[in-house]
Amino acid sequence: MKNNLDIDQVIQNKMGYAAPELQPKVIDELDQSKKKSGSYYTKPEIVNLILDLVGYTVDRPLFKQSLLEPSTGEGAFLIPAVDRLIESTQNYTKGALFADDDNAFNLLQDAIRSIELDDFKHQFLHDTIGRCLQQRGASIDLSHRLLSKWLVQTDFLFWNIPVVHHFDYIVGNPPYIRIENITETLAKKYRSIYKTLFDRADIYIAFIEHSLEMLQEDGQLSFICTDRFTKNRYGKEIRRVVSELYHVVHFLDIHNSQPFIDEVSAYPCIFTFRNAPRGEARTLKMDDVSPENLENARKYLLEGGEIDDDRIETHTIKDWFRGQDPWVLNGELAQELLKKVEANHPLISEPPHNIKVGIGVATGATSIYVIKPEKVDVEPEVLLPTVIKDDITHGFISWSGHYVINPYNNDGSLVDLEKFPKLKAYFMRHEELLRSRSTAKNNPNKWYKTIDRIFPERLSEPKLLIPDIKLKNLIVLDEGNYYPEHSLYYITAGTWDIKALQALLVSSIIKFFIWSYATKMRGDYLRYQAQYLRKIRLPIGITKEDCEELKRMYELGDYDAIDRIVSRLYNLTADELRTIQDLVQ
Ligand SMILES: C[S@@+](CC[C@H](N)C(=O)[O-])C[C@H]1O[C@@H](n2cnc3c(N)ncnc32)[C@H](O)[C@@H]1O
Repeated sequence: MKNNLDIDQVIQNKMGYAAPELQPKVIDELDQSKKKSGSYYTKPEIVNLILDLVGYTVDRPLFKQSLLEPSTGEGAFLIPAVDRLIESTQNYTKGALFADDDNAFNLLQDAIRSIELDDFKHQFLHDTIGRCLQQRGASIDLSHRLLSKWLVQTDFLFWNIPVVHHFDYIVGNPPYIRIENITETLAKKYRSIYKTLFDRADIYIAFIEHSLEMLQEDGQLSFICTDRFTKNRYGKEIRRVVSELYHVVHFLDIHNSQPFIDEVSAYPCIFTFRNAPRGEARTLKMDDVSPENLENARKYLLEGGEIDDDRIETHTIKDWFRGQDPWVLNGELAQELLKKVEANHPLISEPPHNIKVGIGVATGATSIYVIKPEKVDVEPEVLLPTVIKDDITHGFISWSGHYVINPYNNDGSLVDLEKFPKLKAYFMRHEELLRSRSTAKNNPNKWYKTIDRIFPERLSEPKLLIPDIKLKNLIVLDEGNYYPEHSLYYITAGTWDIKALQALLVSSIIKFFIWSYATKMRGDYLRYQAQYLRKIRLPIGITKEDCEELKRMYELGDYDAIDRIVSRLYNLTADELRTIQDLVQ
């Protein structure tokens, strides 16, 4: 199956940026995919909701106002918008709109601007909208004159700069193209214009920024697009612009629904932003965009009140998020869920678990203490094999051959360097650097100590290793062969079967603990610091069968199954699990 997002991906993967001169090839491909899959645009009922949300309705004199569609495609938004415009204007002119071409042209010429980069789609739109107008009574000549004003074939991100045209309504479904799939030159140009294209932001972010700056005072913009920017790192700058300078009027979380004609995993949302000072927002979450739900949603979002349907969750947010804060709309729900998973489950360090959480050794001078013996000649008795962050990136230990120098005796006193002449010579060569560390300055006669003491017995203890910044589930088993280096946290098995513990720790429920205690408010990567790991609570009464099943699913890489098992161990309902998965995704 192909869909609009996939199609954009096809273009970008094949050719980087879909430059106009290269488009015929792309169009073939698009057309082929389209023929196979049928249409792949926004569903009409969603388009109608969006037009209603911004107030583009026939009871208003729409010809006196202006509407922009920045990425029209084949006209999912444009066709109904033109219908509404004509009906509204016919009402105003008492049905005589098309009696005089010049008069109709003057009334309608600035009512619409529609931008589309793709030449083929532009042509298609020309034919379709032309037919639309003619079916409603416009002459061929008038429809051509109007279309030459309304339809613009260009890159929206280079159009209307500096902004001279402003709009009362902006609606659409902007393209979703990863910045790394655009040529470097073009990406650079976009970045030089759009300050919200932060980090790895997709170009839909620039579409939002550019559209916002074209809004008339009090004008409204409503888009359907992926909700990634609402919580993630690359969305920081666009969130700041919206939260500080605009009024978020509506926000619909339809993350789990299918609002596009073809099925696509786009994690969509719909929002309305008004060019006005901050104000109250109505938010709504629903998993199914059935006509009935959409009608209920429309009523609530436009009129307020209550929806008597527990499949739709509504909230009024009096004071929208500030600055770059992520838009965590289900904050209260998250708190309740946290309370539930905390209740009746002992902390990881408490009986019956008795697990230790620690961090690898800090030396204050990694390049001196973490070495390879073939490069540094010291007595082997002072060396302990050490595992570093780069050794575990593949999910298992791929040891790079590093050792940490242990300058301690078993009782914690420092070794006598006279008994280790090679070590002495090595340390003396680096004396200046070693003495410049604060730990040495505070203990000048122990100038070669590491910041943390080293406990050699930890080496043989089976443990799970976790890097402090995690982009994916990375909980790596060390069967008891290495001493962890400072960039790694470790968790011992306590009374647990360590492999079952490993499986449990990759679950969304454990991620949810960290998410709740750590950086959820900054939309950053999750930081797995010891202080948060120690707050994890583990279920009790877990059976041997549960352990075996967890291990089996881990082996199979079936994280959904792990989530289901773990959520049963914490007595969570399927709905609660889904909420947690959404939050930590
Ligand atoms: C996700 S589709 C949406 C189409 C339509 N709005 C809908 O909802 O059915 C995005 C459209 O943006 C167009 N597009 C991609 N990059 C563009 C750009 N830089 N400027 C204008 N249009 C662009 C694509 O050709 C595609 O038709």
